Amino acid sequence: MALVLSALSVLSGLAWADSPADLLDHYKTEAKAAGLGAGDAPRGQSFFNSTHGNEWKCASCHGAVPTGKGEHAITHKVIEPMAPALNPQRFSDLAKTEKWFRRNCKDVLARDCSAAEKADVLAWLISLK
Ligand code: HEC
Repeated sequence: MALVLSALSVLSGLAWADSPADLLDHYKTEAKAAGLGAGDAPRGQSFFNSTHGNEWKCASCHGAVPTGKGEHAITHKVIEPMAPALNPQRFSDLAKTEKWFRRNCKDVLARDCSAAEKADVLAWLISLK
């Protein structure tokens, strides 16, 4: 019984603490269900560094290569690095990541990012050392 309980607590612990790789899998699966290929790091890099109809790019606040700190385009508040190799808190909570994708994609694209776009960006960020 004790064994079963500890196994369960290990499992639920894993379920709550997401990793960047878990989140990447999540977005890839979502994109696949929509018939889209995803998880392409070079495409993620170019998405992150391009404008999409509005004035801002992702890089406008996060920096072109977000291994370093970014700076908010309006408030000039410092934004911690986006690359999980340099900031272990990144992409460790799906709900938090989703909240910011929703908000930032609206600012940059005037729509939500697709699962494929999120997977591409995340694949690129994970590849940065
Ligand atoms: C106007 C400034 C601004 C722009 C433009 C912007 N972001 Fe952000 N982003 C922020 C801020 C502020 C936060 C939250 C503070 C933090 O997490 O350090 C954030 C956080 C995030 C997070 C949360 C990551 C995590 O799990 O910790 C993701 C994902 C993200 N941004 C993706 C993007 C993408 C993709 C784009 C381009 C489509 C983009 N951002 C454009 C300001 C911006």
